[in-house]
Amino acid sequence: MDPATETIHLVTAIPGPRSAELQKRREASVPRGVGSVLPIYVQRASGAIVEDVDGNQLLDFTGGIGCQNAGHVPPEALDAIREQAQHFIHTCFMVTPYEGYVRLAEELNSRLPGVSAKKTFFVGTGAEAVENAVKLARHFTRRQAVIAFEDGFHGRTQLALSLTGKSKPYKTGFGPFAPEVYRMPYGYCYRCPHNLTYPDCNVECARRLESFFKRHIEAESVAAVIFEPVLGEGGFVVPPREWFRVITDICRQHGILIIADEIQTGFCRTGRMFACEQLGIEPDLIVTAKSIAAGLPLAAVTGRAEIMDSPGVGGLGGTFGGNPVACAAALEILRSMDNLDLAYRAEHIGELFEKTTRLWPQKFHLIGDIRGLGAMRAIELVKDRSTREPAPEETRAVLNACHRRGLIIISAGTFGNVIRMLVPLIATDAQIAEGLSVLEESLAEVHG
Ligand SMILES: Cc1ncc(COP(=O)(O)O)c(C=O)c1O
Repeated sequence: MDPATETIHLVTAIPGPRSAELQKRREASVPRGVGSVLPIYVQRASGAIVEDVDGNQLLDFTGGIGCQNAGHVPPEALDAIREQAQHFIHTCFMVTPYEGYVRLAEELNSRLPGVSAKKTFFVGTGAEAVENAVKLARHFTRRQAVIAFEDGFHGRTQLALSLTGKSKPYKTGFGPFAPEVYRMPYGYCYRCPHNLTYPDCNVECARRLESFFKRHIEAESVAAVIFEPVLGEGGFVVPPREWFRVITDICRQHGILIIADEIQTGFCRTGRMFACEQLGIEPDLIVTAKSIAAGLPLAAVTGRAEIMDSPGVGGLGGTFGGNPVACAAALEILRSMDNLDLAYRAEHIGELFEKTTRLWPQKFHLIGDIRGLGAMRAIELVKDRSTREPAPEETRAVLNACHRRGLIIISAGTFGNVIRMLVPLIATDAQIAEGLSVLEESLAEVHG
């Protein structure tokens, strides 16, 4: 497949016969709790195109949920993976270390925002990175409480799930949750928790952190505040810049650490290498994962050196953390992000999205809000613009119509009513235009 020229090409109605057969085997062998959005089984993928076992080629506006910012199977990363695998695949960094881990830590330390000296260590998944950031914050501050936000998503392991602010389907039936987790509303202007309007509101939602310390948990017991710079799973909500300023100022006054979860926003998605740069935030700890290593499982915790060095030897780690093959891929991914200027590309994709969708609210009354940052863009659908009642059924119908036309695209949002775009940043302008035109046709189909 040539990723630059391929476009949507459906051979059969999806799922085709081979996918349908695999789906039957899957239903008998894999628990239903592990859902899949599309019942098609992948044969290969390249750039922004995924080909299934029946020969259908689909345009991917999801990139493995934000893991393929550099595109499926980037050639340089593939070479690095092959090269590393020939030498060794795993020794465990905690037993016999290797240079790739150290080089990647150096790279992230120098690239993440903030002037203070940093250190990085690696784990396997985003949730594991979140758990470790909280461990570090607690160890360093000798405090226990963590404040997270409504509509936030931080993963599915028990502490990460406790921090996650969406009940169904993530939390239902999985309690009890970790103690000392507190939750505030996020800066979600379209659904303002205080019924105010920006900028007249003076970011009241962020200022409430001070009264939160009176009502819920005293500041001197709070180790950290954790937030996503742009909500991922929660619906691509971008708070005003001031929201971050107010939250970080209050945290600094009280010795509370700031943890930024850049797992979905990182690696050029929002138009900079990290969204924090763009939003003017200097967190104490940053967690990254997803697009770091071409889709190989790798995640990182990066933070101020004094915080990272707080636990003693053996306090941090994990058998597979910083796998050498994943580190080799990540080093190549960082190089290609620079060479291809994927941060600029993300901004360009964001502009294409804005230009294309500008008049859609006039055509489709279902559209309540269009928002995002860089190439992290979304459309929130509502049944009624005046009440802003979420439209999850209509959202599912639009997504199904996209899937039938060969566009892989998924939803987000606490109410399941947000259509999100996480297209690989190497997608061509023609592919972006084609995907958006499929989305427009699908909105028209559901709009009636
Ligand atoms: C912002 C954010 N944090 C944490 C996670 C959890 O990452 P993982 O699924 O790798 O555990 C995700 C995954 O979607 C995420 O988007």
